[in-house]
Amino acid sequence: MSSFHYKHEDLYAEDVPLSEIAYEYGTPTYVYSRNDIERAYRDFDHAFTDYPHSVCYSVKANSNIAVLNILANLGSGFDIVSGGELQRVLKAGGAPSKVVFSGVGKTKEELMFALKAGIGCFNVESPAELDLLECVGQEAGLIAPASVRVNPDVDAGTHPYIATGLKENKFGVSRPTAVSMYIKSRQMKYVNMIGIDCHIGSQITEIEPIIEAITEIKKIIDELASHGITLEHVDLGGGVGIRYRDEKPIPLPTYAEAIINAMGDHQHRLLFEPGRHIVANAGILLTKVQLLKKNHESSFAIVDAAMNDLIRPALYGSWQNVIEVKRRQKKQTLSIVGPICETADFFAHKRELAVEPGDLVAIEASGAYGFVMSSNYNSRNRAAEVIVSGSKHYCVRTRETIEHQLLLERTLPP
Ligand code: LLP
Repeated sequence: MSSFHYKHEDLYAEDVPLSEIAYEYGTPTYVYSRNDIERAYRDFDHAFTDYPHSVCYSVKANSNIAVLNILANLGSGFDIVSGGELQRVLKAGGAPSKVVFSGVGKTKEELMFALKAGIGCFNVESPAELDLLECVGQEAGLIAPASVRVNPDVDAGTHPYIATGLKENKFGVSRPTAVSMYIKSRQMKYVNMIGIDCHIGSQITEIEPIIEAITEIKKIIDELASHGITLEHVDLGGGVGIRYRDEKPIPLPTYAEAIINAMGDHQHRLLFEPGRHIVANAGILLTKVQLLKKNHESSFAIVDAAMNDLIRPALYGSWQNVIEVKRRQKKQTLSIVGPICETADFFAHKRELAVEPGDLVAIEASGAYGFVMSSNYNSRNRAAEVIVSGSKHYCVRTRETIEHQLLLERTLPP
């Protein structure tokens, strides 16, 4: 049901041929479907039907202000991890009261900015952060709504770089520490504990670890109740996996039902911070084949995108589908690689593709953790971003130029 589909032999985003996007804006370019973003958000939201909940889209997955604006218009809240992300949310018209702020190393300045902006909740990740938040609140004369991020020590069964709920990870705090933070906060004038939070990892495809985390959270809630402390919400973070290759993601109705059942009679408002699920399949990276090269036994398609544009394959060894923008006959086995001088600069190994120099290919499921993780490595200009809506297309981020890159640099005085 993706909006990226073939009409005859040509790949389209909604009603726009991708060849037209390449002609108009050049390559490499990220292309997102507005329809797919909206549908993914609504699917997530509707899965919880009338159970009290809020969806706080995780800005880090794709922080383009046009994407944030689409979601803000649907009523989404936002999960942020920096002052910069909050600036983006505000610029995109997001409601500060629907923002939750996660992260192990929030600075004093970031806490102050978010507090003055009136965000909905600070997800506090350490006793030191709790003390800092109290100081910031005192300085501002404002009370900070907060929750403690718990580290439930569960294995999310995902890539080690994106698993965050194990006790050896830097995220959250153990049950005893969490309880002591809630108790301490009762003496604080400028922190008001309203919730409890956890996020055990990303690209999760099994429900069991999530249920285990809920079990741990319920234990904490019960322990707090024995101290007379009650909370309004439980934030279960993000992490819902998608299908890149042959993964079997948890169907949203199953996810929702399992969570609601696991909550049982702990009927707190639920918060979710999905990122990947909302935007990954709504985007592709459009790139052009520069040339074909045979080296010993291997054949390569060298494209004009590189690991600086999309680092997931290099960083996590992740698999993403690559498809032709114009279908041709005569497939051959090719590795799709970029022009950067690193063997890690690849998108795909040994795929069956029918392409010739000058042809376009699309790297699928690139809407999440694509552009946001891009860099200027090799002094390459970062890609343009385009949103398609029906038969219209809009450039929502201009391709960088070398002038943009050089703007912040200077040589030493003579
Ligand atoms: N909430 C918190 C506190 C998080 O740390 C994250 C992701 C999310 C929500 C959203 O998780 P999602 O629903 O997108 O799985 N760059 C990696 C993914 C890093 C995820 C970091 N945290 C990748 O490309 O796979």
